[in-house]
Amino acid sequence: MLIRCVQLLAAMVTLTKSICWRTVVKSKDINRIGVVIYQKPTSNSCYTERKNNEPPLCSGSNGHSPWYTPLDSCLLLPALSKSGAGNSWPISWPERLNIRSSTSSENSSTWFSQENFDSDTKNWNGLISEVYSSEFAVNWSSIRNVMDMNAGFGGFAASLIDRPLWVMNVVPFDQPDTLPIIFNRGLIGVYHDWCESFNTYPRTYDLLHMSYLLQSLANRCDIIEIAAEIDRILRPGRWFVLQDNIGMIRKMDRVLRSLHYKTAIMRRQFLVARKSFWRPDSTGS
Ligand SMILES: *[C@@H]1O[C@H](CO)[C@@H](O)[C@H](O)[C@H]1NC(C)=O
Ligand SMILES: *[C@@H]1O[C@H](CO)[C@@H](O)[C@H](O)[C@H]1NC(C)=O
Repeated sequence: MLIRCVQLLAAMVTLTKSICWRTVVKSKDINRIGVVIYQKPTSNSCYTERKNNEPPLCSGSNGHSPWYTPLDSCLLLPALSKSGAGNSWPISWPERLNIRSSTSSENSSTWFSQENFDSDTKNWNGLISEVYSSEFAVNWSSIRNVMDMNAGFGGFAASLIDRPLWVMNVVPFDQPDTLPIIFNRGLIGVYHDWCESFNTYPRTYDLLHMSYLLQSLANRCDIIEIAAEIDRILRPGRWFVLQDNIGMIRKMDRVLRSLHYKTAIMRRQFLVARKSFWRPDSTGS
């Protein structure tokens, strides 16, 4: 047993040295159980000065794929800011909510531009105050949590910031990778594929929101499966809001009405649906 521990410790010392971790504390607690605290370096110099490139540094872009990537044994160098230091602390809250941080996306395509971000912010502020809050039969003061199923830059969540609720922002894995921008705004979020079940058990939501995602989902999975997943996550008596083209709205409306939701189509681009307490008859009669 003792020999095994010594071997393990020796292997740990070799490994942590090779990945540039510094030993900060090596001690025993009051039960004489050994404790070691390691610290990862703040600059990249140690990695590049290693005699053996083992484990190797990751090559090229393979560290940046955020979805369904198998575990890799290479080391990813921390991204450094232009000054060469580690990433600086973001602008303080709440200013950062409406600022698109320049370091928050490495993607230089115009889709990610400041102009697009600003017009998205403006668009959601307008929609929330003029349509969602005033025209929909949704009791906002009873809503504690919301999930935006296709969050984009997080503009929907940002427009709800003054309300006493929180929003889970979901970035579908095949949409532009905006999660770094969402986190830099001080919001929370995850990646997901809505053709698979969402890992939320046992949490349920008061409002689910999906904006222009259904078409791309319907190419890969059945709209009934998506509706069943929405129904699973939603509390009874609570709301699902869909923004989409009228064809998609009508398809989803049919499915939700068959589940005894109360639905309304507004402005030919919104479906507001309220889940009832109805459940299918499980006796089979
Ligand atoms: C809206 O929700 C609040 C809080 O749950 C409740 O007190 C109020 O009666 C509700 N309003 C309507 C019109 O249902
Ligand atoms: C940048 O974003 C666009 C739009 O989502 C995408 O098509 C492109 O592949 C991205 N480029 C990189 C380098 O990630």
